[in-house]
Amino acid sequence: MNSLKGDIVHILFTKEQIAIRVKELADQLVVDLPESDQPPIFVNIMGGAAHFFVHLTEAIGDRGQLIEDFMAVKSYDEDKSTGSAKILIDLLSDIADRDIVIVEDIIDSGITMRAILDLLSPRKPRSIRVCTLLDKAEARQVDDLQVDYVGFTVGDHFVVGYGLDSRQGYRHLPYIGVLKT
Ligand code: IMP
Ligand code: MG
Repeated sequence: MNSLKGDIVHILFTKEQIAIRVKELADQLVVDLPESDQPPIFVNIMGGAAHFFVHLTEAIGDRGQLIEDFMAVKSYDEDKSTGSAKILIDLLSDIADRDIVIVEDIIDSGITMRAILDLLSPRKPRSIRVCTLLDKAEARQVDDLQVDYVGFTVGDHFVVGYGLDSRQGYRHLPYIGVLKT
């Protein structure tokens, strides 16, 4: 195999740093999620959020019941924002009256999260929380997007690893790094 080491300009967050932050987010969700007869539905936004989703839900563990569901949304073509987002796979669950936690890898322009919220809100969930591992806050193009939980804020660089990809590659890296351009 060819080494990827030269492709990463620098490592922003190591596996250990990510694990600490993911545990903190899980602790906060355990406190914040309301008691209910129906467990909250955690929505894995595939494929970027896959690593984050597994570690976040595992860190909640037996502190509370939750339902895992997923969606696939396409928003990026060849590392550039397309300015729109398309839902490729929709949820299996009926979310009416349920507490929803949307788990995303990164919010950049915000177009993808806006599209997800516009799709889910009319289904009348009891609550929706947005939990993103990374927030490129300075790149935001949509107004008043509510983001409830942020792992780390990052600058406007293209980052890969821990689920985040470039052309479907680099997702398996255990750390998050800036991709050489
Ligand atoms: P937005 O619609 O511009 O907010 O883009 C969000 C989506 O674009 C995320 O779910 C990612 O899949 C992808 N994305 C945005 N920035 C990056 C990045 O730096 N690395 C990898 N994927 C990214
Ligand atoms: Mg994504």
